[in-house]
Amino acid sequence: MLDKIKMLLEEVDAWKAHNAGELETLRIGQLGKKGKITQLMNDFRDVAPEQKKLVGQYLNELKEKAQQKIRTLKENLTETEKPTGDYDLTRTAYPVRLGTRHPISVVKKEICDIFGCLGFGIAEGPEIEDDWHVFSSLNFADDHPARDMQDTFFIRHNPEIVLRTHTSSVQTRVMEKQQPPIRIICPGRVYRNEAISYRAHCFFHQVEALYVAEEVSFADLKQVLLFFAKEMFGANTQIRLRPSYFPFTEPSAEMDISCNLCGGKGCPFCKHTGWVEILGCGMVHPNVLDNCGINSRIYSGYALGMGIERIANLKYRVTDLRLFSENDVRFLGQFTCAD
Ligand code: DAH
Repeated sequence: MLDKIKMLLEEVDAWKAHNAGELETLRIGQLGKKGKITQLMNDFRDVAPEQKKLVGQYLNELKEKAQQKIRTLKENLTETEKPTGDYDLTRTAYPVRLGTRHPISVVKKEICDIFGCLGFGIAEGPEIEDDWHVFSSLNFADDHPARDMQDTFFIRHNPEIVLRTHTSSVQTRVMEKQQPPIRIICPGRVYRNEAISYRAHCFFHQVEALYVAEEVSFADLKQVLLFFAKEMFGANTQIRLRPSYFPFTEPSAEMDISCNLCGGKGCPFCKHTGWVEILGCGMVHPNVLDNCGINSRIYSGYALGMGIERIANLKYRVTDLRLFSENDVRFLGQFTCAD
């Protein structure tokens, strides 16, 4: 037995472990329940009494040397090779860092939720559209400047197919298929041939709302606009309607809200007017209803359209539009949503 101990004592110096796995195998082989040294400790019982002192001393020396060597080997392992300690296979996974919703999605959802409260259902349409749905059905004259190559992306070799420049095209798609009452909200991406800068992009997002039924009036539109503005920007928000022109609405208007930065007093953001523009709206032009197979002598409706980036800018003061499409997590991580 003494020989065995002495032999092992010499071997300890040569022990090696290149990684945590090897070290653990070594430890179990020597000091584990059935390890060589543990075995010797167990056999110690049978050593003759007169030899016990000597063998005991050697055995203790061996055990301590082995333990010390294993400690040293462990310290010498590089960080990644170090064992992480006890493994608890029942614990839940490491907390996974969840992403956040994109600010455009946050605002889109908020807009859809507000209109959802008023009974508007969501409708979607294709981004690659035909001229009829984007322009002709919406009462754009053949020579309307919006059809110009400067504004619209055409699909090569086919002047009839375009990337939609607004989500108003979804109005037509729905009205062609459905008779009133129609109450829809259409969120989506739109494309325009613009040079990319901090204030313009070749694609952005819009939400279109449409209500068609019997006896819909401008007063209904105004009330919905006021409700939306207060829900979106706070109960103290005021609205202002300015006459405007869109081919698909008559009369048409643009809506401003009281500047939510200065409370309407005037600041650089609202160019000292106290108002900021947020959307276009109006009563659906009778030609549009008729184009879609809806009898304009029976039905009337209102429509409105707004840019989601514009609303997001007002809410979050993002001064560079390009940030919305750069996917920089430092920017995106700042936006949170209730769910
Ligand atoms: N389609 C318009 C645009 O892209 C926005 C708009 C204005 C939509 C007035 C409407 C509306 O429904 O009534 O600028």
